[in-house]
Amino acid sequence: LRVLFVTSEVFPLIKTGGLADVSGSLPSALQNLSVDVRILVPGYPSVLKQLDDLHHLATLKNLPVIENAELMMGTILDTDIKVMVIKAAGLYEREGGPYVDATGQEWLDNPVRFGILSKAAAVISGPNSPIPEWRPDIVHCNDWQTGLTPAYMKLVEHTSAKSIISLHNMAFQGCYAPGWLTTLALPHGNFAVEGFEYHGQLSFLKAGIFYADAITTVSPSYAKEIQTAEFGFGLEGLLSKRSNELKGILNGIETDEWNPETDFHLAKNYSASKLAGKKEVKNALQQRLGLQIDANAPLLGVVSRLTHQKGLDMLVPIVQKLVDSGCQLALLGSGESSLENAFRHLANDNPNKVSVTIGYNEQLSHQIMAGADMFIMPSRFEPCGLNQLYGLAYGTPPIVNATGGLADSVVDTNIITFKNKTANGFVMSEASPASLLSCIKQALNVFNNDTKAWQQIQKNGMQQNLSWDKSALEYLAEYKKLLGIE
Ligand code: ADP
Ligand code: GLC
Repeated sequence: LRVLFVTSEVFPLIKTGGLADVSGSLPSALQNLSVDVRILVPGYPSVLKQLDDLHHLATLKNLPVIENAELMMGTILDTDIKVMVIKAAGLYEREGGPYVDATGQEWLDNPVRFGILSKAAAVISGPNSPIPEWRPDIVHCNDWQTGLTPAYMKLVEHTSAKSIISLHNMAFQGCYAPGWLTTLALPHGNFAVEGFEYHGQLSFLKAGIFYADAITTVSPSYAKEIQTAEFGFGLEGLLSKRSNELKGILNGIETDEWNPETDFHLAKNYSASKLAGKKEVKNALQQRLGLQIDANAPLLGVVSRLTHQKGLDMLVPIVQKLVDSGCQLALLGSGESSLENAFRHLANDNPNKVSVTIGYNEQLSHQIMAGADMFIMPSRFEPCGLNQLYGLAYGTPPIVNATGGLADSVVDTNIITFKNKTANGFVMSEASPASLLSCIKQALNVFNNDTKAWQQIQKNGMQQNLSWDKSALEYLAEYKKLLGIE
């Protein structure tokens, strides 16, 4: 069974968020199930630089705007994961991020950049493929950047392969002026409600949802939520209509990368049976961040994009209270400048108690995940969320809002869940600063007063199987269902 996994980011080659983590780990889990997977990704500089054995494969022809591009292939270093790359220097080889330039502005030609990614996937799966010796049975798309693929497959390339789109975040849809239809050589007749039109615009995401043979989201709760107006970002109607083909599959984590027993970013490795090492990691983190060295001060950790989705504006008004009651905060993130500034102020007001690092730092993210005592994630919506899963694996109980993948992975601590050993974190009763504060207070109550109980909660999370094994099997079952094989 051959799967073409199309994505705009993949760890460790290029990453802005959880999509890269999933793209870097699900394909390898599928490969362990004997699926023949290849990833398709744009040839950003960091991708071209890091791939092993990168070589010419074929020429992709008849692409919008640039006509031709080179299709290359290499492997991710120290793995046997095959990555096909679209080399188009003018489109992808630029300074800046995959979606935005160095000043944070969206690249103006994103419709072309991701239109071509989408088109290339469709071409490779169809009768005009330049690599007919490797024709996928399934094309697995991810998010709006690959949303046009199912449309190109059905309407233009007439492929026999089946398409599936995974929705990692409905908040990003890739909506553009209708003028792009001509540029991208999309059939104008399908610019309609029953097609890729969305409020007068061309919607990449809607195209994916409308034309894909199957749809998945990254948690079962989010699959239900996006069928409602509150979470569907206008596409709830279409998603409800397609609910029979819509399934939620909870993300796993890459256990080679996120494992406190082997994590090379940490001052000391530790595990559920040897928790003592975590104290040394906390000590090293306090030292690194200039926090007061204090094993007993509850250290709250945050690693996040600083956007409305993540709900960290609810943390701002309660930080001072928490610090006054003896807590420390270590935050790493970047995003909206008003939030960045609010946290910077709190750090200035509370030297040695509040550490705020604005930016992106892979190493520090691991150290906070391991060194903090609890992980704060009050997201307003969360398709899956990986950080709470990392928190569970690292014995850093997550404190979360009850939404999406957070609701599906974090079990609130109460008498029943403590007794049956499922309690692994703390869940807010609603999305508000007051509720976040009271939830953190509940956690502090256990942390400060009952070490044994706290360790039990830590262990409950650490001993869970959070790997991709189970979820990869669910994806495989979806592929087989689409192909009519059992
Ligand atoms: P999302 O993809 O919505 O941002 P996830 O929880 O699924 O949320 O995944 C976020 C990923 O990005 C995690 O691997 C997290 O560690 C990482 N991350 C987020 N912000 C930063 C940052 N400032 N520095 C390093 N890693 C970060
Ligand atoms: C998105 C979501 C996040 C999810 C990730 C990977 O970035 O915001 O919740 O974990 O995709 O699926």
